[in-house]
Amino acid sequence: MDRREHWNSVYRTKSVTDVSWFESEPQISLELITAASPTRGRVIDVGGGASRLVDRLLAAGFDSVTVLDISGVALECAKARLGPQADQVHWIVGDVTQIADLGQCDVWHDRAVFHFLTDPNDRRKYVELATRTVRVGGHLIIGAFAVDGPEKCSGLAVCRYDAEILSRELGPRFRLVKQVSYAHMTPANKPQQFFFGLFELFLQSTLENDTDIPVK
Ligand SMILES: C[S@@+](CC[C@H](N)C(=O)[O-])C[C@H]1O[C@@H](n2cnc3c(N)ncnc32)[C@H](O)[C@@H]1O
Repeated sequence: MDRREHWNSVYRTKSVTDVSWFESEPQISLELITAASPTRGRVIDVGGGASRLVDRLLAAGFDSVTVLDISGVALECAKARLGPQADQVHWIVGDVTQIADLGQCDVWHDRAVFHFLTDPNDRRKYVELATRTVRVGGHLIIGAFAVDGPEKCSGLAVCRYDAEILSRELGPRFRLVKQVSYAHMTPANKPQQFFFGLFELFLQSTLENDTDIPVK
């Protein structure tokens, strides 16, 4: 089964509130996005699925919100929940490793998508797209299973991350400015350790003489 079929089948056969990654309040994501963009700039939620983050972003006054997901079924669930408000959102059905252009954004947010990219070539394509998409001075937020988190999710193998591993994957243009570790409680009441990194995108030239990058 290819990726798209896998995820469409998950969202067709399970209730969105029963999947292990469901959270009624995407609090950590919302706090990090709001900290990164207090002026409520353009946000892209990569692999947003049927998450309620989009509802909270609209309520918080973000007027340019894009939700990208490989599963059209997941996005239809989110649209149905939002009703007429769905028209305020830009929806994209696509594979983040295959998309050429997403325009520019102030904040790139990904909760539990990058960790599914077990092929280094896919991770390279993801990072190239993120680097093209986030404006200089803008931010990238990735939430992934932590090094002591689960080894699989939704029947798929994952890679697990901490600040060092994620920083290495993203390369020198992304500097870690904040990190959060927490245990997500699944609907079945099982804890899953997550690592969230908030990174700022710098111009290449600002890094040329920079040997010691501080973590705020
Ligand atoms: C574990 S779920 C997380 C959903 C959402 N971010 C959340 O926190 O509720 C992973 C999501 O990533 C999407 N996904 C998986 N691989 C993807 C890819 N290569 N490109 C875009 N979306 C992808 C899936 O369809 C699914 O909605």
